[in-house]
Amino acid sequence: MKVLTVVGARPQFVKAGPVSRALRKRHTELLVHTGQHYDDAMSAAFFRDLEIPAPDVNLEVGSGLHGEQTGEMLRRLEPVVLEHEPDWVLVYGDTNSTLAAAVVSSKVAYADGRRPLLAHVEAGLRSFNRNMPEERNRVVADHLADLLLAPTTAALEHLAREGLAERAEQVGDVMVDAWSWAAERAAAHLPAEAAARPGFILLTLHRAENVDDPARLAALIDALATSAAALRAPVIFPVHPRTRDILDRHAMALPANVTDIEPVGFLEMVALERGARVIATDSGGVQKEAYLAGVPCVTLRTETEWVETVDAGWNRVVGGDPDALRAALADVAFLAGDRPRPDLYGDGQTATRIVSALERRLESGTATAAAPADTQRVGAPPERGMTEAVAT
Ligand code: UD1
Ligand code: UDP
Repeated sequence: MKVLTVVGARPQFVKAGPVSRALRKRHTELLVHTGQHYDDAMSAAFFRDLEIPAPDVNLEVGSGLHGEQTGEMLRRLEPVVLEHEPDWVLVYGDTNSTLAAAVVSSKVAYADGRRPLLAHVEAGLRSFNRNMPEERNRVVADHLADLLLAPTTAALEHLAREGLAERAEQVGDVMVDAWSWAAERAAAHLPAEAAARPGFILLTLHRAENVDDPARLAALIDALATSAAALRAPVIFPVHPRTRDILDRHAMALPANVTDIEPVGFLEMVALERGARVIATDSGGVQKEAYLAGVPCVTLRTETEWVETVDAGWNRVVGGDPDALRAALADVAFLAGDRPRPDLYGDGQTATRIVSALERRLESGTATAAAPADTQRVGAPPERGMTEAVAT
């Protein structure tokens, strides 16, 4: 079985780590990095920390407007898929890299008329907030995919409601595999700034809706700093480059009890999560990791895809409401964190289940479907387009 994996952004490197390891035991994997994230701290650090093999191909797309970035990915990825003719294209999550890879793999046709199958890891998540670019990306990826690998029962139910049940399987959440693997190795990796501030609150912020408007960003940070001061807790804030850009451009100073650091590698992050008294975040992945670490989480968004953490009492969705934030951080029972923590996201063997699902679906003949004739020839004349050159 030949699998072409497409990753591009920080959370995708985390998710791909365990799956790559499991895949490569028996199969051929070609790892394609779109280049959406490119700073050492946003990309290479994860390949080192998670011991992921270097990408076979880097499309070096970089940053840009949504259309520009996604369009470049489409243009650069298509010839790679055509050259390697994988059985599967494997995508993760909900970024522009996910969207581009899903669109390419559902459109290309090989010379003999076959096309790759598309598998989507983390299928079925919904925030039901169409203002988020991630929600639009994940809905498109789910509807294009041949195999929908759902992490939770809630995700599987969303897929069923959208008529996608036949292509869906619940496999658990591969972030449990990645996080558990890293937790065994993270002890020595607590950043010095955090080690010097025991009882710290860990803060991450990067969602467009929270950080692109400087007034909103300042209000969120101030609300957290005020609540943290009431708890006498310092705040450690590894700053995403998108957020750093806004802080710098608007010359925004941080409150005295907030210590900003550069984005950290995965082992440092897991050490920070395990050492934190509370985690405040707008990240999807970090909400789940807080649960795995047994640390109470306040989610600085108006909704969450990870509703199980809320139902279990470990996560409070407070949006940008300073009163709700203050109430959560003043709630002694919530902060005590001594509630049960059932295996909501699987047993850490999700990567193996993903590989089995890919094998089974390929063997069952539903794989590598013939491309409809009219998708094989569109657009540019043969000499201008790789698809046409191969598909003749
Ligand atoms: C992207 C994903 C988001 C995911 C997040 C994980 C989309 C639409 N969004 O958001 O779903 O939660 O990744 O972190 O795909 N930048 C750098 N260096 C880098 C990468 C980015 O400086 O290595 C800066 C650039 O100014 C860039 C900005 O960060 O314009 C935003 O990067 P981008 O990848 O477009 O979106 P994210 O906010 O990272
Ligand atoms: N992460 C990290 N260093 C950081 C911030 C996040 O290693 O400085 C990890 C985090 O532990 C999680 C993933 O990156 O595994 C989440 O990425 P992010 O919050 O950027 O994206 P999201 O999950 O919201 O899509």
